[in-house]
Amino acid sequence: MNIVDIIEKKKIKRELTDEEIRYFVNGFTDGSIPDYQMSALLMAILLNGMTDRETFAMTDAMLHSGDIVDMSALGGTVVDKHSTGGIGDSTTLALAPILACCGVYVAKMSGRGLGFTGGTIDKLESIPDFDTALGEKEFFEVVKRVGCAVIGQTANLAPADKKIYALRDVTGTVNSIPLICASIMSKKLASGSDTILLDVKYGSGAFMPDPDSALELATKMVAIGTLAGKRIGALITDMQQPLSDHVGNALEIVGIVDVLNGKRNRLYSEIKEVAVRLLELTGKYTLQTAEQAFQQAIDSGDALRKFAQMVAAQHGDESYIFHPEKFVIGTRDDVIADSDGYVTQMVAADIGRAVTRLGGGRMTKADVIDFSVGVVMRVAIGSRVCKGDVLCQVYHNNGRGLNEAKDLIRNAITIGDSEPAPHKIAYAYVDKNGVELY
Ligand code: URA
Repeated sequence: MNIVDIIEKKKIKRELTDEEIRYFVNGFTDGSIPDYQMSALLMAILLNGMTDRETFAMTDAMLHSGDIVDMSALGGTVVDKHSTGGIGDSTTLALAPILACCGVYVAKMSGRGLGFTGGTIDKLESIPDFDTALGEKEFFEVVKRVGCAVIGQTANLAPADKKIYALRDVTGTVNSIPLICASIMSKKLASGSDTILLDVKYGSGAFMPDPDSALELATKMVAIGTLAGKRIGALITDMQQPLSDHVGNALEIVGIVDVLNGKRNRLYSEIKEVAVRLLELTGKYTLQTAEQAFQQAIDSGDALRKFAQMVAAQHGDESYIFHPEKFVIGTRDDVIADSDGYVTQMVAADIGRAVTRLGGGRMTKADVIDFSVGVVMRVAIGSRVCKGDVLCQVYHNNGRGLNEAKDLIRNAITIGDSEPAPHKIAYAYVDKNGVELY
């Protein structure tokens, strides 16, 4: 077997065998297949696709490239959720304590942000002293005692994905449904939870441009997870505007504390949708009892206290959770509406790019994040605005990137004359029983 023949075969749209797929995944991971040949193959896959069987074989090869975490010692239901990424998507930070209050374990391994999308681990590290690198023993001890913990992915969880993703990122081969599917599912299946909810985003701030391509990706991931014996479902959700009105690492924790204090906004609605579906998937709840449990966790204040407990258990300063104003330390400037009308459109990706320009995101892996910067959106799609109104508050550090960020935000928000149709949070739900359109 050799890699040139495999590239040639995919180039003419022929189906690869399981052995060929294992050969190139293992060969690239151990360094025997160089970047330039792997790049050519990834581009051939992006252009010519993969069958479901090929996608499953690629997922399986990547999954077995490293450790598979065994959570059975926890002795309970272990749930996980995965978002395909977006702007102001801080849902994990609220879901972990809420779900723990509902009697299931959340032992989550999350990633860092790159480009215009944020990462859960960076957000958590904006809490002073929070440790996202607990050793395995301490991680399991915190999950068992508190019910939830969130750490960064360990080096040996699907190492094939780490190498392949880094190459895709710089060769224009991220936007391929089979490659995204294998990337996400290899990590999810390796991380050991028994119940998984995927949050597949579409829109300007997401990898999938429209609901139909998001549904296609979701359906493939659910099929693979089901075949692997997991209880798995996927929501297709809107990323045409930032999910939270707070975007930026420390500011997003402020948005999460708002939700845990019961503030009803878009972020709250999405967190509720994900939590309720996930609890139903465990088989311990119906949709109705899941909704009651969710409400009880928020209304009683238990979820907020659980978040603080998790922060303390991971050595962070829990006082910030009860005094979130301590996170707001950047200098404020405003983006102002220059006409009357309705907000008809937003380019979510450009709001993410604006935060990156302020120093709140990375352009390269080596960049150091400024946790204090970010934006607070004062409008959403459908808001009525008058000339002079504040559209967005920008928190910066000594003016770094401020003008560029303000330009990006101003251009990202379209103000028109007619009121747009209401935007739904979720478009569809899919599990082994099929698709439910909202
Ligand atoms: N998230 C991942 O983990 N992998 C992809 O390929 C895309 C989004």
